[in-house]
Amino acid sequence: MAAARQPEYRIDPQFTERWSPRAFTGEALDQGALMTCLEAARWAPSGSNLQPWRFIYGLRGTPAFDTLLSTLVESNRAWAQNAGALLIVLSRTQRTVPGKDEPQAIVSHAFDAGAAWMSLALQAQALGLHAHAMGGFDRAKAREVLAVPEDHAMHAVVALGRRGDASLLPPALQEREAPSGRVPLATLVAEGRFGFEG
Ligand SMILES: Cc1cc2nc3c(=O)[nH]c(=O)nc-3n(C[C@H](O)[C@H](O)[C@H](O)COP(=O)(O)O)c2cc1C
Repeated sequence: MAAARQPEYRIDPQFTERWSPRAFTGEALDQGALMTCLEAARWAPSGSNLQPWRFIYGLRGTPAFDTLLSTLVESNRAWAQNAGALLIVLSRTQRTVPGKDEPQAIVSHAFDAGAAWMSLALQAQALGLHAHAMGGFDRAKAREVLAVPEDHAMHAVVALGRRGDASLLPPALQEREAPSGRVPLATLVAEGRFGFEG
C-alpha cells in the first residue's frame, strides 16, 4: 500500500484500498456487476429507513451512457468517457405524510445518499472494479436531459469500471493518477466539544 495510504490505526484494508482512479479500460461493464453495486447501495442506512437515494445509470455503448456523459464538465468527460458505466446519485428531498397537506422535507436525504454511494464504491472495490464520483457536471443540463424532478437533489455522477493503465490518460492527469492521503485524525475528531487541531 502506498505511503499516502497508511492509516493511524489498524482498519479493514477495504477502506484504504478504495480510491478514485481516472484511467478506465473502456470495457463495457457487465450489467450484473453494476446491479451488484447498486444492490449494496440499497442496504445503506437512512433516516426512518426512507431510502431516499435514487440512481439513473447508463452502460457504456448505450444512449443512456452518452446522455450521462454529456452532462459532465469537459475535464471529467475527458477520462470518464472510458468508464464501463456512468450513474447519477440522486435523492428525494420531500415526502408526503398522511394527515399533512404540505410535502415534508426528508432532512437526512443528502447524508443518506452519501452512505449509499460509499456502499456502492466499496462493493465495486470488492468486485475488483473502481468507482469515481464527480461533482463536476452541469446540474441544469442533467436535470433536463435526465428528466429529474425538482424534488430530487443531484449529488454526483459516478464513473464505474475496470481500472486501466495511467498511460491512457492525458499527461497532466497521469501525474495525479495515484491514491491520495488524508489529513490527520486529530484534525477531524474532538472529544466532548468543538475543538480541532489544524
Ligand atoms: C462529491 C464528490 C465530488 C467529486 N468531484 C470530482 C470531480 O468532479 N472530478 C474528479 O476528478 N474527481 C472528483 N471527486 C473525487 C475526489 O477528488 C476524490 O474522492 C478525493 O480526492 C479522494 O480521493 P480518493 O477517492 O481516491 O480516496 C469527487 C468526489 C466526491 C465524493
